[in-house]
Amino acid sequence: MDDSSSPIYIDNAATSFPKPPWVAEAMHRLIRDISLSPGRSAHRFSLAASRVIFEARELVAGFFGCPNSSRVVFTSNVTEALNVGIFGLLSPGDHVLTTGMEHNSVMRPLRHLEKTRGITLEILATDSTGAIDSDDIPKRLNAKTRLIIINHVSNVTGTVADLAAIGSRKGGALLMVDAAQSAGVFPLDMEAMSIDFLAFTGHKGLFGPTGTGGFLLRQGIMAQPLTMGGTGSNSEAEEQPQLMPDCFESGTPNTLGIGGLAAGLEFITKIGRETIRHHEDHLTRLLLEGLSQIKGVTVHGPSATANRGSAVSLTMTGRSVADLAFLLDRQHGIMARAGLHCAPAAHRSISTFPQGTLRLSPGFFNTDAEILTVLAALDQISAGS
Ligand code: ALA
Repeated sequence: MDDSSSPIYIDNAATSFPKPPWVAEAMHRLIRDISLSPGRSAHRFSLAASRVIFEARELVAGFFGCPNSSRVVFTSNVTEALNVGIFGLLSPGDHVLTTGMEHNSVMRPLRHLEKTRGITLEILATDSTGAIDSDDIPKRLNAKTRLIIINHVSNVTGTVADLAAIGSRKGGALLMVDAAQSAGVFPLDMEAMSIDFLAFTGHKGLFGPTGTGGFLLRQGIMAQPLTMGGTGSNSEAEEQPQLMPDCFESGTPNTLGIGGLAAGLEFITKIGRETIRHHEDHLTRLLLEGLSQIKGVTVHGPSATANRGSAVSLTMTGRSVADLAFLLDRQHGIMARAGLHCAPAAHRSISTFPQGTLRLSPGFFNTDAEILTVLAALDQISAGS
């Protein structure tokens, strides 16, 4: 790599980078100016911290079409959110329908509950681009189907699930959505899409810091919490309160992170989610069109013209994906991710298991010039120079 050129980050499916300066500034103000322990004491610092969390909850509820912000629960990441839902909603004998594109944050807890709680698991097959047919869903439902768990946008291929179509076919089951890759970029509305449990992360499309995430639980549905302890409410009781959201938020919360997440949401509102989506889509098309011209490259997933997310998976004849990532980083200063992306099921579905793929995932702060540089680097690697 020429030392004078700037490195290129194209691994936004792992975490978005850079974060808007707006987010860093908000977090700096928070850690400098207020104590970060909300809901415990009645002094002004604690009240200010409570306000930060309340305002963040309101923002999240509004952003995802949830009419009541007390149904928003903050967790430390989307994995924790999905675990709370999976462990907290399933009982012995329940049937769960999920897809061949799920991340291990869904598959591992489900496989565990198959063994330990006697749930039954059914996996909807996908086509070679990772798409399921939502018409398959009604055929698979039975009286014991408690949950349908759907990955909204794949972290491996960018494949998009049609949530509105799935929501209208869910019968008596609850619809749980893993929005790790879609929140902040794709439209998500709990009411319009009939979503019962929406799990999100803060540090990807929402531009917040790592260590943030959460879920929204539809009014009228309750789950068992995974952790119990002090909530700052009902302190006279030794039993966990049933109050929402306190029931799921034991221990001092991550006020600094949640404040940063709120700043990320404000940034999206200011720029416009559609503008972000449009820019990412433009970069993804540019990338896919360029990749189609490079000798030996195979893209695994939806085409450039499909409604798709920005994660682009590829392999190159004669090169391992680990080699590709290494050469991009060391020789060209380009940061991407290679391997299975914690989603072996998805790689089985698109026939790239066990070697995996090289994943390029443009984000809002990437430019056309950066995409062209990435393409030129891959072309050079393909030519063996
Ligand atoms: N699941 C995240 C990724 O795809 C971390 O890289």
